[in-house]
Amino acid sequence: MRKIFILTLLFISTQVSSQQDISLPTAKFKTGDIPAWSQASFDDSQWPSIKTNTPWEQQGYADYNGFAWYRFHFKLPASLRDNSYWKDSLRIFLAKIDDVDEVFINGVKIGQKGSFPENSGGYSTAWNETREYHLSTKHPALQWDKDNVIAVRVYDGGGAGGIFSAIPFVNMMDLIDGVKMNLHIASTRDDKNTLTLVNNIQKKIYGKLSIVVTDPGTDTLITQSKKDVELVAGNNFSINIPVESSQRATISAVFREQQTGKSINTNQTLPYILTPPPPATPRINGAKVLGARPGSPIYYKIAATGEKPLHYTAENLPAELSLDRKTGIITGKLTERKDYHIKLVVINTKGNDKRDLTIKVGDVLALTPPMGWNSWNCWGLSVSDEKVKASAQALIDKGLIDHGWTFMNIDDGWEAEKRQPDNMIAANKKFPDMKGLGDWLHGNGLKFGIYSSPGPRTCGGYLGSYKNELNDAITYSNWGIDYLKYDWCSYGNIAGKDTSLAGYEKPYFVMRDALQKQPRDIVFSLCQYGMKDVWKWGPEVNGNLWRTTGDIEDTWQSLSNIGFHQTKQFAYAKPGRWNDPDMLIVGQVGWGENLHPTRLTPDEQYTHISLWCLLSAPLLIGCDISKMDDFTLNLLTNDEVIAVDQDPLGKQAQQIIATDNVQVWMKELEDGSKALGIFNLSGHDLSVSVNWNDLGLHANQKVHDLWRQKDLGSFKDSFSTKVASHGVTLVKVGG
Ligand code: GAL
Repeated sequence: MRKIFILTLLFISTQVSSQQDISLPTAKFKTGDIPAWSQASFDDSQWPSIKTNTPWEQQGYADYNGFAWYRFHFKLPASLRDNSYWKDSLRIFLAKIDDVDEVFINGVKIGQKGSFPENSGGYSTAWNETREYHLSTKHPALQWDKDNVIAVRVYDGGGAGGIFSAIPFVNMMDLIDGVKMNLHIASTRDDKNTLTLVNNIQKKIYGKLSIVVTDPGTDTLITQSKKDVELVAGNNFSINIPVESSQRATISAVFREQQTGKSINTNQTLPYILTPPPPATPRINGAKVLGARPGSPIYYKIAATGEKPLHYTAENLPAELSLDRKTGIITGKLTERKDYHIKLVVINTKGNDKRDLTIKVGDVLALTPPMGWNSWNCWGLSVSDEKVKASAQALIDKGLIDHGWTFMNIDDGWEAEKRQPDNMIAANKKFPDMKGLGDWLHGNGLKFGIYSSPGPRTCGGYLGSYKNELNDAITYSNWGIDYLKYDWCSYGNIAGKDTSLAGYEKPYFVMRDALQKQPRDIVFSLCQYGMKDVWKWGPEVNGNLWRTTGDIEDTWQSLSNIGFHQTKQFAYAKPGRWNDPDMLIVGQVGWGENLHPTRLTPDEQYTHISLWCLLSAPLLIGCDISKMDDFTLNLLTNDEVIAVDQDPLGKQAQQIIATDNVQVWMKELEDGSKALGIFNLSGHDLSVSVNWNDLGLHANQKVHDLWRQKDLGSFKDSFSTKVASHGVTLVKVGG
């Protein structure tokens, strides 16, 4: 392997695009809403500037919702038009806008996405749509060779606000826009990385394709190729790029169109697998401690890997419980309030494994953070019975169930439009038989979760539980529900001006009482985005977990903003009481009908799972499991990493070191050892050294790499490690 200067390649491609684009990285910005702000002649010289690739909350406008305007000033050279191949169409690219926008050029409206509160039909968000407006170069509002003003009126309906996700620009549509470059990343061992160029126009296109594959950690070249490509009208060109699945590698590809010299490119780091497959001998995984209320049905599936068939037995199993030796499912009822110590045994032809399980009969459920799946981050409101079953079946078939993944939770979108005549809630057509679905899940070793709001409507506009809390709890119990996510949403309208703590707690007390009357255990998940420091009073309303933040998205920005700010809740996590930084964003996600692979890099995904496990966060997979690739599966089935999350001590990691580039989080584990996450928040790989002293640890510590499941040796005063950009080294220290 030799060193190469990959920077040269990247430099050329950025250079070309900067010649053709008018980049708009900043704008003049003001909150409020005045029609005159659309006019070119309006004097905004006193307005502050704002960056246009980051929501305004992160730029001094914390918690601001409502209207604001961005104004861009730029010169539009006629040469831009004249030098382009087609000469007829100008593109205004405004990245994404949270939530609604109306765009003016020199005072003339040229487009809108989403719907403002004053529009007929009312407010609706278009936060996830890319804003790209095209104008004829003859459009009368355009001022060629003169100054132009683009004014963007934005309405933020809640959460993050403003222009985000990329830097806006103005350029001409050109020949190169007829070509699309798609990089398909191999999702299984038998699949191949394939780069495809697609010609979408009725004209032959010639160009040069360069592909460079490097190790981003060392900048060493893995392979490279250059090729002249002739793209016949309407045709594709494809090429395979073989890379080992355990190799950390970045593919950089550039296609330069011959006639104009303009190019398109892609740059992606491939997923790489760190964790070895589980052994053929049995290994028992999953929660070591289970909470149950006296007299509630107990339902526990022993999670175990190893060559099938596995035979399950148990020593000291109380007489009231029975174990299905073929499925490993324990059922029954325990009435006495006490701890029951059971020894689980799993056997196959290769050997056996034994492990303790404690069932604590008392008042507290979810003694380890709940693990499973939730429909929201993939299907959004389009969730259906079929989609839940497909992910459940895949969770079983792909073996996730053998690592302790248990809950199948339906989020918003299951509710019928109206209550039944007796005021009981019903499911809509997408869920023809809720009880049947629950039975099916339970029959397959899984648990069943559901979603509602204390308000009259859920966040998705479906029926909520307001004034029907007990009816709903009874219905859930009849359906076999094991978990309820209870989302504030329209309860804000009921609470009205009451901003007291009691006002925020009230609806959760009501549902707590309704759930407690049910003859089964229902884990209570509070979702109100952390208002009024919910972690301080969540236990009073018997919440088992509570969201500490707004909604997560599959971006580094969202992940790091949420994950690395879970500091003040640290002391409140304990068995049965978990801080919830929101659901997982790995795999195929989408919040609707159309799914896409997570936009997190592989290293960001290692960070995500490591950090969530350190935080003792509930682990709810948010993707379509039936489409789960090998990398994501590997990421979610490392039992040593999961054991950090499920550690019975139930402590949350504490942030010990936080510099601009590096953070170190440490979690105390039941066996006296510590789990240590060393995170690199910078844009390049780093070598990091931590002194045991700085972590309050004594000299000579044994270190074990959790992702690789490998002992690294004993380290005297400090431990040094190379950490990938946005990645992590996760180790267990001592023990
Ligand atoms: C949001 C919640 C999401 C999802 C959604 C459903 O308020 O934070 O996780 O449940 O509502 O409409």
